[in-house]
Amino acid sequence: MKTILSDSINKAASFIKEGELVAFPTETVYGIGANAYDEKAVKKIFKIKGRPADNPLIVHIASKKDIGILAKEITPSAKKIIKEFFPGPVTVILKKNEIVPDIVTAGLDTIAIRMPSSKIARELIKLSGVPIAAPSANFSGSPSPTSFRHVMSDLSRKIPCILIGPASKYGLESTVIDCTGKIPVILRPGSITLEELKKKIDKRIVFKKNAGKIKSPGQKYRHYAPEAKVKLISEFGFGNADLKRETSNVKRQTIKEKSSAFAFIGLSKKFAGSYKVVKICRSTEEYAKSLFSFFRECDDKGIKTIYCQRVPEKGIGLAIMNRLKKAISN
Ligand code: TXA
Ligand code: MG
Repeated sequence: MKTILSDSINKAASFIKEGELVAFPTETVYGIGANAYDEKAVKKIFKIKGRPADNPLIVHIASKKDIGILAKEITPSAKKIIKEFFPGPVTVILKKNEIVPDIVTAGLDTIAIRMPSSKIARELIKLSGVPIAAPSANFSGSPSPTSFRHVMSDLSRKIPCILIGPASKYGLESTVIDCTGKIPVILRPGSITLEELKKKIDKRIVFKKNAGKIKSPGQKYRHYAPEAKVKLISEFGFGNADLKRETSNVKRQTIKEKSSAFAFIGLSKKFAGSYKVVKICRSTEEYAKSLFSFFRECDDKGIKTIYCQRVPEKGIGLAIMNRLKKAISN
């Protein structure tokens, strides 16, 4: 199949209207979308991504009015979240309406709804005239794409259209919040942080790591992983006694292999120099934004092991550590 790269939102919308797939930019990561009401079109997403059928999709909207069409009931907590954070990098889970095909929600009686802040994404949805069901535009399991070039490397020749846009502003997928109960539960942490949600929505909100496994099926699969091995190192660097052994291993192998096959990403300057590819981030926000792109860069350069510096699990650090832990577990 020929894949066109286009910056015409109109052109991209015409593919959606015809029941085809379009990859498009959002502020979190790039998505691969289809008309959410078109079962056949949605089926193609699962096939092309190699996505397990029990992993439901997020439905993207351009107007808050659509929530009432897709969801049976907008709970008080969802109302607050929508008012505060839509459009933005956040997804709410609500009871679904009949109009949504089962394939979109993997047979669940709930639906994930998100209104992106990306103007290009919203314009695409508007011009398509339907909500767009879309997961991240990568092969299942690999790091989510944060630029159209990443999408090209995974999906060229597999979909008819990639809508070109800027690199994703946040670089990690949206915060997913189950709003079906009295107290909202975070199923996947993201750029809208637990602290912010506690402050603005409900101080009882928690991130339930294991609720995610049952309630958000996507969370049980290995994810976000590059080809290279991912290893975590202490947030304090290699000064930590437990990690001394690791350091000496790295040094030995580096000498043995002459050219280093290791990479580092983190916040601490003291690691520069020991690795072939190094990314020192000035903030946790920059770490979040760069992580998936760095994974892909390392794979392109044939890196064998990527050392990632731990960060405290607060603020956006909770989302970074969530993705890192999934990248190492297999
Ligand atoms: O930022 C994002 O959310 C990106 C962009 C493209 O919008 N999309 C994205 O989609 O990350 P995906 O498919 O890669 O991840 C969707 C997550 C999965 O963990 C899935 O299990 C969960 O949302 N999810 C979807 N529908 C759900 C539902 N009804 N109940 C619980 N979890 C759900
Ligand atoms: Mg994904």
